[in-house]
Amino acid sequence: MLQRLLLAAVLCLIGFSAAGKVCGRPRQVENAVFRPGRVVYNPQDVVTYSCNLGYVKDSGNDKALCLILGNWEHATLQCKRQQCPKPGALENGTVRYTDITYQSIIYFSCHEGYRLRGANESQCLVSGAWSAPFPVCEAVTCPHPQIPDLGRLEFYKPREGNLSFYQDVVQYGCQLNYALIGSENATCRANGTWTPIPECRAVKCQRPTEIPNGYMSFAPYRKYDYKEAVTYGCNPPYTLVGSRTSYCDKDGEWTQKPLCQAPCHVPTPKANVLHNGRKTRVDEISRQQIQHGDVITYYCKNKIEKCAYTVESRCHDGNFTVPACYKKPGVFSVFTTDPSDMVPCPEASQQSAI
Ligand SMILES: *[C@@H]1O[C@H](CO)[C@@H](O)[C@H](O)[C@H]1NC(C)=O
Ligand SMILES: *[C@@H]1O[C@H](CO)[C@@H](O)[C@H](O)[C@H]1NC(C)=O
Ligand SMILES: *[C@@H]1O[C@H](CO)[C@@H](O)[C@H](O)[C@H]1NC(C)=O
Ligand SMILES: *[C@@H]1O[C@H](CO)[C@@H](O)[C@H](O)[C@H]1NC(C)=O
Ligand SMILES: *[C@@H]1O[C@H](CO)[C@@H](O)[C@H](O)[C@H]1NC(C)=O
Ligand SMILES: *[C@@H]1O[C@H](CO)[C@@H](O)[C@H](O)[C@H]1NC(C)=O
Repeated sequence: MLQRLLLAAVLCLIGFSAAGKVCGRPRQVENAVFRPGRVVYNPQDVVTYSCNLGYVKDSGNDKALCLILGNWEHATLQCKRQQCPKPGALENGTVRYTDITYQSIIYFSCHEGYRLRGANESQCLVSGAWSAPFPVCEAVTCPHPQIPDLGRLEFYKPREGNLSFYQDVVQYGCQLNYALIGSENATCRANGTWTPIPECRAVKCQRPTEIPNGYMSFAPYRKYDYKEAVTYGCNPPYTLVGSRTSYCDKDGEWTQKPLCQAPCHVPTPKANVLHNGRKTRVDEISRQQIQHGDVITYYCKNKIEKCAYTVESRCHDGNFTVPACYKKPGVFSVFTTDPSDMVPCPEASQQSAI
């Protein structure tokens, strides 16, 4: 009984001493607001904090209590910015981002030859989830390649489902006697289409024509098919330059025919020269005639140094020029040394002699 009385007295005392004490506004918590908002609070009043939009509770107590003595037992709440899960790697693609907190955007792209299935971007929502599901990068496929009229697929290795992948190559051919115009290969492109396919075209050439100073293999008067060939030769003493055969080409024309080039007359009968690696006199060469492309090497004299040097001259389709330094032997040539018998000049002194 006494104990009860005592307790009542103590309570009365506390009530009395606290009478009239109130709390002011509780303190601010960063990135948070509290409720209810009043000018004064009575002891035992509680305010509750909540994090601002885009922020979530990190740690602490979100309630503050107004105490009897007019002071607050503060909230310890800490708010942090909402964050979405870190995105993983995108297979055969790239994920670009600088931040993954609320409102940040991440971007998806695929490597060349892959196509994005799904969104190309995703935003971090207030809930902490990404706005769009994670996309995938699918390998680009090309359909079964088209086949040109009168053509066929020479090489084609389809993957499963009769499809081809990016950069796969098919090769085309044409039926016999049809010319393939364009590229013989087509490649599966990054946008799922093939590079342009070739065309197979019928090609006819006119009867091939003769060449000057030459002859042609037997060629009846008719049209000629693609790749049909004729062979040419030159009448002696003409020299054939180029390819002996010509064939009917894709453009309906014959490929480059050979040329028959004329031999040359060498006008210096008494000159001692080098011909075909042999020292000889020009009038010892049969009819003083050399073939197109042949070289005659003349000896010229350096009078000061008393030595000889050589100068080459080549026959070009009937044209032959004797080197300017060559001197015809004079009347008294028997008393002088022919340049071909003199000592060879050292490299340097040839220049000064010319
Ligand atoms: C695409 O991804 C797969 C699986 O990671 C890998 O085996 C393949 O090499 C990738 N392709 C390219 C072109 O990087
Ligand atoms: C993302 O896709 C949208 C619509 O699908 C398009 O307009 C936008 O250009 C794309 N962005 C990029 C970077 O490809
Ligand atoms: C592949 O496609 C071609 C042309 O469309 C068709 O003729 C062929 O039967 C297909 N092959 C398979 C295995 O589906
Ligand atoms: C066309 O493709 C075939 C087979 O892949 C290859 O051997 C050939 O070299 C290619 N031709 C050209 C002109 O690229
Ligand atoms: C595919 O790409 C090529 C060039 O790379 C372009 O010429 C062609 O028009 C494109 N085709 C489609 C269907 O986009
Ligand atoms: C040969 O010489 C003549 C006359 O100098 C010249 O008109 C002609 O073009 C030359 N021919 C060759 C193939 O050099």
